[in-house]
Amino acid sequence: MSLNLKGKSFLKLLDLSGEQIGELIDLAAKLKEEKKNGVNQKCLEGKNVALVFEKDSTRTRCAFEVACADLGANAVYIGPSGSQIGKKESIADTARVLGRMFDAIEYRGFGQDIVEELSKYAGVPVYNGLTNEFHPTQILADFLTIKEHCGDLKGKKLVYMGDARYNMGNSLMVGCAKMGMHFVACTNKEFFPDKELINTCEEIAKQSGAVLEFNECVKDAVKDADVIYTDVWVSMGEPYEVWAERIEKLSPYQVNSEVMKMAGEKCKFMHCLPAFHDLKTTIGKDIFDKFNLNGLEVTDDVFESEASIVFDEAENRMHTIKAVIFSTLK
Ligand code: CP
Ligand code: NVA
Repeated sequence: MSLNLKGKSFLKLLDLSGEQIGELIDLAAKLKEEKKNGVNQKCLEGKNVALVFEKDSTRTRCAFEVACADLGANAVYIGPSGSQIGKKESIADTARVLGRMFDAIEYRGFGQDIVEELSKYAGVPVYNGLTNEFHPTQILADFLTIKEHCGDLKGKKLVYMGDARYNMGNSLMVGCAKMGMHFVACTNKEFFPDKELINTCEEIAKQSGAVLEFNECVKDAVKDADVIYTDVWVSMGEPYEVWAERIEKLSPYQVNSEVMKMAGEKCKFMHCLPAFHDLKTTIGKDIFDKFNLNGLEVTDDVFESEASIVFDEAENRMHTIKAVIFSTLK
C-alpha cells in the first residue's frame, strides 16, 4: 500500500499519484462490500468532522454525513448562511478555530484558493467538497462506477461534453491523465479547459500513457467511447444571465440518443447530478419555457435509458468519501 494519506488534506487530484487514486477506489469498493454485508465500520468513534457548505448540496452533504455515521464519527453541518465564514471572519481565522475543535473539515464553496487556505491554517485534514475549479471526491465515485461497469480504467475512453472548463471537466481531465485513460473534451473550443491545466495534464499523460483530446466534432469525438459524461451548462454561483449564451454555444453538445448511437452499444452515460433532463425542477422548467427547448445537457430518454449509470454513480459518492475520511483519519 502506498496510500499513506493519514493526516493529509484531499484538495485536488493533482496532489495524488495515480497509484494513490487507484488505492482509494479499491478501498471504497472494499468498504462498499463490507457495508452491504453488515460489517461494523465504527473505527472513528470520538472523531468530529466539520462540513462547511457555502453552496447547496444533496449528494456531497449526505455522503459525508452517512459516511461519518457509518464510521462512528460525528459530523456537524455549517450551511451557506448563519456562520461568520468569509463575512466577519477570514478563512485563516476560521481554519484555526475549526481546527481546534474538529479532526477534519470538509469545504464546498467558491475559489480553490479558499480550500487551499483552509488547509494551510487548519492543522487537520481538509476535504474539497467542490470548488469552482475542482470536484475531486466526485471523480473517485465516477471512477469506481466505471470500474464496476466497464472494468479496468487504463485505456478507457471518456468523452466529456458541455462546459469542460469548470470543476467537472477540469477534474475529469486530471483524473483521466493520472489513470492512463483517454479523455476527450468534446465541446465548443471556448469551453475547453484552461491551457495551463491542459499542459500540466499533458506532462502527467507522458508518464501514465493517457491520451488527451480536444475536439469540436461530436461524430469523431464520441466514436467507440466507453463513457459519455456531461454536467449542467451553468454551475452554482454563475449568474442566470449566462444561460442564453450557454444554450447557444453548448446545444450542439447535448447528450441525446443520436449521440449515444454514434458512440456505440457499449457506451455508458454518466452525470455528476443534479441534471436538467425534464420539466420537474423549477429552474429547468423556467429555462425550458423561456428558451422553448426540449432538453438541456441531456435528454430525458438518455437519462432514463439502460446505458445511464447515474444512480450507481450517486451511491458511490458515499463509499468513496468514506474511503477518503478513513484513509486520512484512521
Ligand atoms: N454531484 C454533487 O456534488 O451533487 P451535490 O451538489 O448534490 O452535492
Ligand atoms: N458544475 C456543477 C457541479 C455540481 C456537482 C456546479 O458547480 O454547480
